[in-house]
Amino acid sequence: MSYNELVMKNLKQRGLKVISPVLGKYFDDFEIKGGKNGYLIGQDSKQYLDFATGIACCIVGHCHPKVSAAIKKQADILLHTCIGVAYYEPYVKLAEELQKIAPMKGAMSFFCQSGSEAVEASIKLAKYASKKPGIIAFQGGFHGRTLGALSITTSKLKYRDGYEPLLPEIYVAPLDLKVVEGLLVSHPGQIGGMIIEPIFGEGGYTVVDKVFLKGLRQLGDKYNVLLIFDEVQTGIGHTGKWFACEHAGVVPDIIALAKGIASGLPLGACLAKPEVMAKWSPGAHGSTFGGNPVCCAAAIATLKTIQDEKMLANAVKLGAYLKKKLSALHQQHSALIKDVRGLGLMLGVDFGDSASVKSIINYCLKNKLVLISTGADGTVIRFIPPLNVTRQQIDQALKIFAAALDNV
Ligand SMILES: Cc1ncc(COP(=O)(O)O)c(C=O)c1O
Repeated sequence: MSYNELVMKNLKQRGLKVISPVLGKYFDDFEIKGGKNGYLIGQDSKQYLDFATGIACCIVGHCHPKVSAAIKKQADILLHTCIGVAYYEPYVKLAEELQKIAPMKGAMSFFCQSGSEAVEASIKLAKYASKKPGIIAFQGGFHGRTLGALSITTSKLKYRDGYEPLLPEIYVAPLDLKVVEGLLVSHPGQIGGMIIEPIFGEGGYTVVDKVFLKGLRQLGDKYNVLLIFDEVQTGIGHTGKWFACEHAGVVPDIIALAKGIASGLPLGACLAKPEVMAKWSPGAHGSTFGGNPVCCAAAIATLKTIQDEKMLANAVKLGAYLKKKLSALHQQHSALIKDVRGLGLMLGVDFGDSASVKSIINYCLKNKLVLISTGADGTVIRFIPPLNVTRQQIDQALKIFAAALDNV
């Protein structure tokens, strides 16, 4: 079906009458018809270069033909049955594929439908397997909006406002190993897990120091506390490696994944070392839709496409190119830009003020480039293009972004 056969006029006006006002918006009235490769197609039928990728989800571009074909094929075979009812190929195959690339040897998977659910599963597993209720999380982290994931989220106060009290036994620490060890010593036998994003995503694309991550691993081993990496945003290649933890050479006990894993179809995963998973008793957790056959087929095709089309190498190469160019813009606009940071194709430009960010992303949108903000106060612009972005597309984006900087 072509876009024009669909009824899709006045989306904002219609949406305001029927969609919950709770949903935040990066843009006031951006309406689209569809997406193809690295572009969204606007209501004006113009192509918008998409460097936001549906918040880091459309990792191989929009509607990659191999991913769409896998989805269509699976849609004629099996739409749903629930893994609790019967084993089916895509669920098992995806777990096999993840085991091959996961940093932990023999990793086993539990599938769900979102990043928040992957985090819920991870903290439930840590509590259950360790038989200890407490979880350490880190100041400025974002782990999702369900009540468990929200309890360990501190990136923005407004996420928590109106929902307190949240889960008990949550300890929020700064990125300071002495403070973390102090918490472990002062709560003997009480803390079962520590959860961290290797790059704080909603917290402003801040890369956590390798030494700190290594130190957490050592503390986890010393005090018998499970180390969880939330790789929902970093995972599956954005940083140029399948998992960001590989940059630090740290192997966590549990990993939460979602976003890019199924090219935008709703799928989350909790991966864990086999000895940790072995402690999770049948029925202690579950999901009706988790690991849906169509979503798993999309994920298998996404992983294969990343491999076949050598997209990790592309993310390393073009990520370095983009960072170099953004750093040059930083030098030119040192009064405006405070920092350029990130790994691979997960880069943040920090302006330290949200008014400039708003003006820049609106200018870019007008000029057919989609960029979105991040950071506690929306003071950072994130560049998270698909892993198969081309140099030409990066140059096109940089041209618009540079003009936006001149325009502020
Ligand atoms: C690091 C991280 N964890 C968890 C989540 C929650 O994912 P979801 O919105 O799919 O529930 C996000 C979403 O932005 C995230 O960036």
